[in-house]
Amino acid sequence: MSGIPLHDVDAARAADQALRDHAGQARHWHLADLFAEDAERFQRLSLSACGLLADFSKQRLNPETLDKLRGLAHARGLDAWMRCLFEGGEVNWTEGRAAMHWRLREPGREEGKDDPVRDQLARMERMVTRILSGQWRGCEGDAITDVVNVGVGGSDLGPLMASVALHEHRPANGQRPRLHFVSSMDGSQIVPLLDELNPATTLIVLSSKSFTTVDTLSNAATARYWLEQAFPDRNGAVLRCHFIGVSAMPERMSEWGIHEDNQLLFWEWVGGRYSLWSTIGLPIALTIGMDGFRELLAGAHDLDRHFREAPWEANLPVLMGLVDVWNLNYLDITARAVLPYDGRLKHWPAYVEQLEMESNGKSVDRDGELVDYHTCPVIWGEVGPNAQHAFYQLLHQGTQPVACEFIAAARHGLDGNSAELRPLEEQHSLTLANCLAQSRLLALGDRALDDDGDTPAYKRYRGNQPSTTLLMDELTPRHLGALVALYEHKVFVQAVLWGINPFDQWGVEMGKKIAKDMIRVLESGEGSDGLDASTRALAGYIRAQQSS
Ligand code: F6P
Repeated sequence: MSGIPLHDVDAARAADQALRDHAGQARHWHLADLFAEDAERFQRLSLSACGLLADFSKQRLNPETLDKLRGLAHARGLDAWMRCLFEGGEVNWTEGRAAMHWRLREPGREEGKDDPVRDQLARMERMVTRILSGQWRGCEGDAITDVVNVGVGGSDLGPLMASVALHEHRPANGQRPRLHFVSSMDGSQIVPLLDELNPATTLIVLSSKSFTTVDTLSNAATARYWLEQAFPDRNGAVLRCHFIGVSAMPERMSEWGIHEDNQLLFWEWVGGRYSLWSTIGLPIALTIGMDGFRELLAGAHDLDRHFREAPWEANLPVLMGLVDVWNLNYLDITARAVLPYDGRLKHWPAYVEQLEMESNGKSVDRDGELVDYHTCPVIWGEVGPNAQHAFYQLLHQGTQPVACEFIAAARHGLDGNSAELRPLEEQHSLTLANCLAQSRLLALGDRALDDDGDTPAYKRYRGNQPSTTLLMDELTPRHLGALVALYEHKVFVQAVLWGINPFDQWGVEMGKKIAKDMIRVLESGEGSDGLDASTRALAGYIRAQQSS
């Protein structure tokens, strides 16, 4: 890289240069040596807050590295940007908006004062109570047994990830409908799903901030057709009893046919990928009840306070953001693997991929200039134990450096005295053992093993693959809330250092438009003349196949 974008120009240039000089040495470090040299390395480079422990000691850095990175953050004006975020300033400057997802989880909302956040939460609570208590009835008078969330991107990934992660945390009354998620525009999820469901007892939740996303609207149309076929002549009742809408655009929901009483709102100032705290979280509340949902918000608020108040030496999002910048911009590690060692977190990698890559996959800075350094790394992931049998080969013996992120819960959280749950507890420990063994081998390489020195090269482990391990004390709504907020703020910290806007997504907006013209080309061939040779030929091939 040729230098981080500058804020206090001279200070930032000096901090950047100091880091590059330091990286010149760090490139020769091996994690096995760093551990051998410093018995206190874990104590110096780990931190816990809000029920989360972050261990950075397996990263290729030392306390001096973090000092220097903090120097860069100061020069880049991180403190001013943090104030701006929490004062509701226009941190999303390309869309002229604040980003106030953190406001959704502020406690102590006063009665009597005008407060749309509180009002929408209360509205959502009434719906949740009606659904969970069996009072919400289908158009034939049946209680709801199945809820289908139809949404995509931020209107799918957050609720899906959290609902699956927390499915063991039943609401107080123990009742809940089965929950399904449909996102893919091709019908491959919704068609077989509807085949299995009973229309009389199914409730569809249309989740879309813009209420224009074609993926969601095409699935919504299929669901509506299915219900209308099941109950011909009852169009009004079908819409009234079987559809809820969640959006920032009430007029569009009404136009589509969502009854006003069935509309839940959120606002422009909540980014799609930051929206699980809003009424977009309805599926989460149906999974864990409103008390559980409030716990999730409380955990995120704990982390908000930590981010605002903790000194940077002990500030989890700041440190995580700085470590990622170190890996990417100074050690040139351009890939990161997200590896939850807990099947309940199986949707965590997809959630993080959107959060980070849609937020920070940018190349134009605040001054409208193209940046000449990397911003977001390429991020991918999978449940760790499964990934061990898939792509860990590359992590251990491939040619690429990859920063790894291990995430696990220290306690499973079930009653260990129950005989029938014993195997689950044992399996949880087995999984944690794998997690620790893998991060150790990746860091130390052969030196983690009893090696007789006679091992052929193809059986050797280079090591020095850096990783962070994040442990939740337990996978509870509160700790998951803190974990998600940690990542949100980390993304913000990185964006400030890179001088980019993490709250817009112009790169994907066009995708919502360009397909429209292509549909015409596929259907009639009309407009294909203006296309490039590849697209024209592919469209022609598809047309020929479809008409054969
Ligand atoms: O893919 C782009 C995007 O705008 C995401 O940011 C968003 O989460 C997703 O589409 C869904 O958008 P909406 O909630 O408006 O349907």
